[in-house]
Amino acid sequence: MQSFSQKVIVITGGSSGIGNALVAESLRRGARVATCGRNLQKLRASFPNSDPSSLLLAETDVRDEGACAAFIQSVIDQWGGIDVLINNAGISMRALFADSQLSVLREVMDINFWGAVQCTKYALPHLLKTKGVVVGISSIAGYRGLPGRTGYSASKFALQGFLEALRTELLHSGTHVMWVSPGFTASNIRNVARAADGSSQGETPLDEGGLMSAETCATRILDAVAARKRTVVMTGQGKLTVWLNKLFPAFTDTQVYNHFKKEPGSPLR
Ligand SMILES: NC(=O)c1ccc[n+]([C@@H]2O[C@H](COP(=O)([O-])OP(=O)(O)OC[C@H]3O[C@@H](n4cnc5c(N)ncnc54)[C@H](OP(=O)(O)O)[C@@H]3O)[C@@H](O)[C@H]2O)c1
Repeated sequence: MQSFSQKVIVITGGSSGIGNALVAESLRRGARVATCGRNLQKLRASFPNSDPSSLLLAETDVRDEGACAAFIQSVIDQWGGIDVLINNAGISMRALFADSQLSVLREVMDINFWGAVQCTKYALPHLLKTKGVVVGISSIAGYRGLPGRTGYSASKFALQGFLEALRTELLHSGTHVMWVSPGFTASNIRNVARAADGSSQGETPLDEGGLMSAETCATRILDAVAARKRTVVMTGQGKLTVWLNKLFPAFTDTQVYNHFKKEPGSPLR
């Protein structure tokens, strides 16, 4: 376990799932951690015994640029710098594009893409001073468009394009930029995924108990941050999908279609 003793780690979306596990694991590794979510009470309930000298909780909607700026400023006011920013906050969707209201795609882009861009913008001057690390929590959907997730796939492609360009801009700065693409991980993401009308779908089509745990996912993300990896595709299924899509894109269209058509309640017809 690599130590992050006294490092300041900012993690968006800490109230649930992977973000929640990232906060817990970062604290275990000795870091001072700032995290946010849209509801302060929910955040506090997620960390009932938190020590305010090492955990800063902020009610922040990452869609709101001013709120992102204020969140980052609160970290600087408390600890004077930032070593790692993990852009984790995200939502998903499950509906065909033909059926979806455009507001669904806008909401997904506003959180998954713009939320990350805004937090990175305000944290970057501080990360340049510490020669720190900017991290994006992407997805296999950032390499391979997934049916029923047009907005989600677009948001993760956009995130990866943004981070790759930023990494190149910062090549000689000492500040590192990376992204991690978990496979299916047990969390709340599928329960709250947006349906065609923008409501939460309210259930998961997967057996969450059979997926990678958020704790395992968080451990692997922090190991990758400590090693300053460029990108991590976390599961064998993910690696295979990325590789097949590069070499045999038409074949992969069929495979991906067939896979997602089998999901319970699949919108594919
Ligand atoms: N689980 C998977 O299978 C999987 C696979 C690949 C990638 N990912 C990625 O992993 C990241 C975390 O997802 P998860 O699976 O852990 O989902 P989750 O359990 O639903 O957690 C999402 C977190 O994001 C926060 N969030 C959502 N909208 C926000 C907003 N507007 N402002 C601030 N915070 C917001 C949520 O907090 P509030 O609701 O309290 O605001 C929550 O803490 C996402 O970027 C997702 O795309 C997940």
